[in-house]
Amino acid sequence: MGQESQTTHLRILGDMDDKTKYPTVPGAIGVFDSGYGGLTILEQIRNTLPEYDYIYLGDNARTPYGTRSFDVVYRYTLECVTHLFSLGCHLVILACNTASAKALRSIQQRDLPRIAPNRRVLGVIRPTVEAVGKLTHTRHIGLLATTGTVQSESYPLEIQKLHEGIAITSEACPMWVPLIENNEHRSEGADYFVRKNLQHLLAADPLIDTIMLGCTHYPLLLEKIKQYIPQGVTVVPQGHIVAQSLADYLRRHPEMDVRCTRGGSCRYLTTESTEKFSSCASIFLQQEVQAEHIDL
Ligand code: DGL
Repeated sequence: MGQESQTTHLRILGDMDDKTKYPTVPGAIGVFDSGYGGLTILEQIRNTLPEYDYIYLGDNARTPYGTRSFDVVYRYTLECVTHLFSLGCHLVILACNTASAKALRSIQQRDLPRIAPNRRVLGVIRPTVEAVGKLTHTRHIGLLATTGTVQSESYPLEIQKLHEGIAITSEACPMWVPLIENNEHRSEGADYFVRKNLQHLLAADPLIDTIMLGCTHYPLLLEKIKQYIPQGVTVVPQGHIVAQSLADYLRRHPEMDVRCTRGGSCRYLTTESTEKFSSCASIFLQQEVQAEHIDL
């Protein structure tokens, strides 16, 4: 793109966004999670769409969100989303089921029209539900998630909207996130809790043939989960599904695609200490990352 046409292009973007106080030039795609779990989503997104720039924000100082009230999750999530907007993101993915369940709708319907009408925030629940409806043969699905996500009933509501008649049984697994964040997910203690929650889920509905992992941390327990489910039951992590859905979204929305820069970079931001983030992130990414601290 020549200098002149680029200037024109940026001015058009600026005009479209002039109600907001956020930078109007194209920017990175924001990926938000309460902590580390969203890294499992980010990894799959970057595998699928490596050419874009990303900013990952983990609200590690205030994690976990899974046990917090609607109001608190909404307030924290909005703060993180607006911070990503202020860093130039036009598109933010809530790579956290709890935030998607408790904050997404309010942010989309109440906040965006007022504070940033041309920016978009997308969640992980809808794409997961869309995909999972095609996988079940018995039409009985299980959901493993945080207490907050289960109590929100967001998954059953989406299932009813998109796949009427599919039965969904949910199991809250409050011990799984702390096990993973304390690097205990390969321990015998983890076996105890994984077995207990799966037995409970499958006893509640023995016809379940598809289990959704409705928490971005849970792919780290995938091998253990597979040990405790009967043959013929499929476990569905979300990362790949969300990545495909984002690729599809960008294809269908060229006006947003041009607002996302392509340099292949990724910044990692944390509300906690950078040393803690860098060492814990390696549990999720199998590589060292340099994080930057932010105050919200
Ligand atoms: N990563 C969050 C999710 O997907 C769970 C972690 C938390 O409780 O903050 O729900």
